[in-house]
Parts: sequence; C-alpha cells; structure tokens
Amino acid sequence: MSKNIITILFSILGVILIEIIAVVAGAYSGIPDVAATKPEGKLMSWFMSTTKDHSISTRAQNITPPFLDDPALVAKGFGHYNEMCVTCHGAPGRKPDEFSQGMNPRPPDLVFSTADLSPEKMFVIVKNGITMTGMPGFASTHSDSEVWAIVAFLNRLQTMSPVEYAAFQKSNVKGMNSAE
Ligand code: HEC
Repeated sequence: MSKNIITILFSILGVILIEIIAVVAGAYSGIPDVAATKPEGKLMSWFMSTTKDHSISTRAQNITPPFLDDPALVAKGFGHYNEMCVTCHGAPGRKPDEFSQGMNPRPPDLVFSTADLSPEKMFVIVKNGITMTGMPGFASTHSDSEVWAIVAFLNRLQTMSPVEYAAFQKSNVKGMNSAE
C-alpha cells in the first residue's frame, strides 16, 4: 500500500472518530431538546420519515392480503378499532382524545392519511408499530387474522361517514366485546 493511500485511510478514520465523539458528546451534553412540544429539525424529520417509508415498504413485500371486503371481517375490525385506536386517531364524528394533540408526531386522521397506503403496508404498521412515534405494535396481543380484520376496517374507514360510524357503534356492541 502506498504512503498516500495510508494517509487517506487514516484521515477518513479520523473524521469518523471525530463524528462518533461529537454524537456521544451531544447525547451527554443535555443541549438537544427532547420536548414533544417542539418540532424536530428538518434533517431529523427527513431522516425519520424516509427511514420509515423504506422500512415499511421492504417489510410489506411478499405479503398477500385476504379478501378484505368481507362485512364480517370489517365488523370484527371495527371492534378492535373502536377499542384501541380511536383515542389517538379519532374516527368520523369522533375526535381523538385530548392527549393525542400533545403527541409528536401527532397521530394522523386515518380517514385521509391511509389513502396511499396499501393493505400490506397497513398490516405491517399495525402489526409492528412505528418505533419512537407512539404508534404501538399489536403483534404481541393480536393474531395476524385479527390484524387483517383491523386493516379491512381501515380500508372501509376511508369512505365512512359519521352516521355510518355511529351505526357501527350501535350494531356492533356484541362484536366489540367478543373481539378480544
Ligand atoms: C397512543 C397513540 C396511538 C394508538 C393507540 C394508535 N396509534 Fe396509530 N399512529 C400513532 C402515531 C403517533 C402515528 C404516526 C406515526 C408517524 O408519523 O410515523 C400513527 C400512525 C398510524 C398509521 C400510519 C398512518 C399513515 O398515514 O402513515 C396507521 C395505519 C395506524 N397508525 C393505525 C393504527 C391502528 C389501526 C390502531 C389501533 C389498532 C392505532 N394506530 C393505534 C399513534 C397511535
């Protein structure tokens, strides 16, 4: 190896070492603000959303959804949604609970936000959750078939009116109780 290459390699290693020290020093310094009330910087926000999108896309490959338009599956999904998701995400005619307004990122309104998410991606999100966002993963308490029922409901939710959601609440009390 020539002297030049060795110098270049040591310079690169030096830069990497300085960066690692800077990151560790930053973590211990107390200067970065972890408050949920402040938006994170553009760079961090780009990093998080790009990492999330690619991670979910990769994990959604090779997943085949069942038939999601089955009304019984949708009704089963409603029971889970109304019990576990509505506090954060709300529903047509039902606002999310107050605490969710203080979350960062804020839980999105799934009626609109899932329009460009495939059922496979929704399955990955609901099953695994999204780390460091407050979105829980339901894999430890729910089987794949229960997660698919939730996804079937999310699909239906995209075009659901407040009247329809209220009708689900009236007619599915039994389904809700037996869902768990
Ligand atoms: C404690 C609050 C909380 C609960 C409970 C919760 N979520 Fe979430 N959810 C979030 C947050 C916060 C995000 C946004 C994550 C992000 O920005 O990356 C999210 C994101 C999502 C997304 C992705 C939406 C998009 O547009 O990218 C889906 C789908 C979703 N949640 C479904 C559900 C379902 C279904 C349930 C119930 C089984 C549920 N969530 C329960 C907080 C919650």
